[in-house]
Amino acid sequence: MEKSAKIYIAGHHGLVGSAIWRNLQEKGYTNLTGRSHKELDLLDGVAVKDFFDQERPEYVILAAAHVGGIMANSTYRADFIYKNLQIQQNVIGESFRHGVKKLLFLGSTCIYPRDAQHEGGCSPHLPAGIYE
Ligand SMILES: NC(=O)c1ccc[n+]([C@@H]2O[C@H](COP(=O)([O-])OP(=O)(O)OC[C@H]3O[C@@H](n4cnc5c(N)ncnc54)[C@H](OP(=O)(O)O)[C@@H]3O)[C@@H](O)[C@H]2O)c1
Repeated sequence: MEKSAKIYIAGHHGLVGSAIWRNLQEKGYTNLTGRSHKELDLLDGVAVKDFFDQERPEYVILAAAHVGGIMANSTYRADFIYKNLQIQQNVIGESFRHGVKKLLFLGSTCIYPRDAQHEGGCSPHLPAGIYE
């Protein structure tokens, strides 16, 4: 990536997104862009399209998600699957439609319902039975 490339970090106020933002700044990337949840609700497909139309990022890091930990994702399963698939659909879809060069998607098991099946019976990051 060129140091002047426009990089959109979705969720740049969150734990992961803010660390990535700082790390890129330290490495000399000068054209970072982000919006708070208040400024841009990633569940709103029209607003996400408008944002991509205006900003035209070359690279996208998706670190925005409805995150709540292992208790919440076993209690509010429908919220987790609905909100996170919607955020992913909007951000990944607009990245594709706007010709983004590369997209990095960070998503661990805690953004999916507690007992969701993962390929191979476990998540890419965590062994099966991690919550037991
Ligand atoms: N933390 C970890 O150790 C870890 C490890 C591996 C992967 N991950 C993954 O990294 C991603 C982020 O995790 P995190 O720990 O950084 O979570 P976090 O601190 O809760 O950050 C999530 C960010 O997403 C934003 N967000 C949520 N819903 C949104 C919406 N509808 N529109 C716009 N922004 C929205 C939040 O804004 P508000 O707070 O204002 O709602 C927040 O800034 C998740 O997919 C997670 O699975 C995390």
